Amino acid sequence: MATKPLGLALALVGSAIACLPIHAQSPTLSPVAHPTLWPAAASPSSITDRATEARIAKLLAGMTLEQKVGQTIQADISSIKPEDLDKYPIGSILAGGNSGPFGDERGSSSKWAELVREFRSHSKASGGVPIIFGVDAVHGHSNVPGATIFPHNIALGATHDPALIRQIGAATADEVSASGIEWTFAPTLAVPQDLRWGRSYEGYSSDPKLVASYARAMTLGLQGNLVPSKPIAANHVAATPKHFLADGGTHGGKDQGDAQIPESELIATHAQGYPAAIDAGALTVMVSFSSWNGVKNHGNKSLLTGVLKDRMGFRGLLVGDWNAHGQVDGCTTVHCPAAYNAGLDLFMAPDSWKGLYENTIEDVRAGRISEARIDDAVRRILRVKAKLGLLDGRPIRDVPTELGSDAHRAIARQAVAESLVLLKNNGVLPIKKGARVLVAGDGADNMAKQTGGWTITWQGSDTTKRDFPRGRTIWQGIDRAVKESGGSAELSIDGKFDRKPDVAIVVFGEPPYAEFQGDIATLAYQPQDKADLALLRRLKAAGIPVVSVFLSGRPLFVSAEMNASDAFVAAWLPGSQADGVADVLVSGRKGHPPHDFKGRLPFAWPRDARSPVANPLFARGYGLSYAKPGRVGQLDENPGIDLSSALNVESYFDRGRALAPWAITLVDANGSRPVSSGDATSPLNLVRAHHVDVGAQEDSLAVDWSGQGSISLDGPQVDLGRQLTGAFGMEATLVVTRPPSGQVALTVGGQSLSATTALQKPGPVTLLVPLRCYADRGADFGAVRTPVQISSTGALGLVVRRLRLVPIGAPTTCLPAN
Ligand code: BGC
Ligand code: BGC
Repeated sequence: MATKPLGLALALVGSAIACLPIHAQSPTLSPVAHPTLWPAAASPSSITDRATEARIAKLLAGMTLEQKVGQTIQADISSIKPEDLDKYPIGSILAGGNSGPFGDERGSSSKWAELVREFRSHSKASGGVPIIFGVDAVHGHSNVPGATIFPHNIALGATHDPALIRQIGAATADEVSASGIEWTFAPTLAVPQDLRWGRSYEGYSSDPKLVASYARAMTLGLQGNLVPSKPIAANHVAATPKHFLADGGTHGGKDQGDAQIPESELIATHAQGYPAAIDAGALTVMVSFSSWNGVKNHGNKSLLTGVLKDRMGFRGLLVGDWNAHGQVDGCTTVHCPAAYNAGLDLFMAPDSWKGLYENTIEDVRAGRISEARIDDAVRRILRVKAKLGLLDGRPIRDVPTELGSDAHRAIARQAVAESLVLLKNNGVLPIKKGARVLVAGDGADNMAKQTGGWTITWQGSDTTKRDFPRGRTIWQGIDRAVKESGGSAELSIDGKFDRKPDVAIVVFGEPPYAEFQGDIATLAYQPQDKADLALLRRLKAAGIPVVSVFLSGRPLFVSAEMNASDAFVAAWLPGSQADGVADVLVSGRKGHPPHDFKGRLPFAWPRDARSPVANPLFARGYGLSYAKPGRVGQLDENPGIDLSSALNVESYFDRGRALAPWAITLVDANGSRPVSSGDATSPLNLVRAHHVDVGAQEDSLAVDWSGQGSISLDGPQVDLGRQLTGAFGMEATLVVTRPPSGQVALTVGGQSLSATTALQKPGPVTLLVPLRCYADRGADFGAVRTPVQISSTGALGLVVRRLRLVPIGAPTTCLPAN
């Protein structure tokens, strides 16, 4: 097996700490790793055989500095054209979550193959070394319509079945390579500790042992067995264990945050998957956006070189995350010798590739990066390219029939069935032969909710059934299964019915999200609007037994919803083949053997809304079955914290999104329209908005007015009386892209002041207006529904970066009257 067992690793930590009293007793947490404390591992000799190494050395010796530096840089398809490679010998191309072939988010499998062919042929003409092309196939080939979408990793964690994980890896590799691509940025080996993290569902489990066994299985599934001096098979792809390290260990579960933990915990909890993946031959590893004890991992040489490359013997290439090098102290996205020197080999520089290329050449000339370090990086990149057969004309497969094939969909359906965790069952499950079933809830027939983030688009919000013609929603599966058992099913999203059913299945849960957009303040499900609870209670009050099927990227506090249900199933994010749900729920089907529940919790389930979960309602490993029933009594519905205090009462818009419970709308004379993801316009098209990158990806909203209208932040009624007394002000962090042709108003608590003069100069501007200025004009801060609104009577261009209330330190003046 790949890993030194955990016990041994811990023993190593223990004994070594005994020899390092200074470190062990130090009260402050250090960001410097001590490699000898870590588990050892080694990339297999099948990726470093002598013949290949000699070939790489020869290739390297013939390369110019420009060609070498070019190899270390990766650009995104939305910011580079194949022809650019004629001039710039860039070594790698990626397609990020929102990037489709030839600008089409829903481009076909063959379009992907065509795109790869174009990039590859230009790269060969310029540098001689073909590019390597990577994509986020994180639960199947998830960017491509018609692919098989497997359950997200958290659901796979519930199956506790490494053999199944290996099959999923092989099927995914088959589909990715069938569209011409040779590399996926998977698997995620995060070991999430705080479920408020929006990427919790990308992790398999909070159990490092399970993560390690899956790391091995998924790597072998994706890459196949490696054979010395032979390229991997054309239907396999390179794997990327990510994100190194402790992406799931950040303080407060904050995405891209800081893991404030001792080295022993970093090793025992977060590192265990990596030796397993490296021993299994993982060709690449991705570095995490996050920090360890205050230092960004992209700049931490002790982790990247000392631990990963030296101690864990990793001989493949180390790729960065999306412009993450720009977050290292002293770096920008276009200039970062510190990350090169820390050991990063391939820089993910989606839109910053050109500047980075030019500046890095200068850095090497000036000695800020040694040529030996660049050579090491290029050698690793060439090694991976050799293993993928890219140096020998790896065939660009174009086999659309592999996507969503019968065999792959069958594996996905099986995975769904195995991943379901039965949390409560008072005897209503399985659904009996011949039953009349009502299927309700907005997740019942909803491809976006069941597939989640990283599906078609980055956030996955606009996925539809049309994207997966051979997919099945939960409703479609139940409908068919119930009919096969001689019963009848009716779909009614809002739960209304004419004839009383024997039983209701209600499917509900979280909307799709990815990365930091999924970070939440507490573990409460629907902290504000308890719409799903109301539906469950209404059905129960009508005397109908209720089965809840909960779709979510994480365990959440749902005790009230459980009390209102006779059975409760955690179904996670099952993906495109959700007929696997009915396979377990419905009994007595002709031609179908009965299934039982197999899934067990990969994370502890919370008793209240507090995080991290200290005293769980159900421990990790819990799961009932028909064979082993158990009773769940009435649960305490107390959230354990004041949920209203955890709401974003003072922060409205940050990092590109309205913060829950707030929503952004674009308003004109004809009404208003919400801004979720992607482009949005007001009803008359007078106000338009789209996301843009300022400090990080899609972290700001560009709003353009061509006539009278406004952008408005709306939500539930809140009391801002304390903020008014506390001398808070409304702070709007903006960039003027087009000065106003008419009058601009900043409206707070229903009263307006003029921002026309303040916005005359193009460029960044921060308005900070005391709430008092608005109160003086009659604003009522006791009951605010629209904390802030920006309106214009004419043309105007603004980039909105942040909207929030802050305490005012220095004296500030009011804006002029509107
Ligand atoms: C994602 C990319 C995505 C981009 C959007 C990144 O964080 O990982 O895949 O396309 O943001 O700007
Ligand atoms: C994510 C990675 C992903 C990359 C490319 C980043 O924002 O953190 O997981 O592989 O984008 O899309």
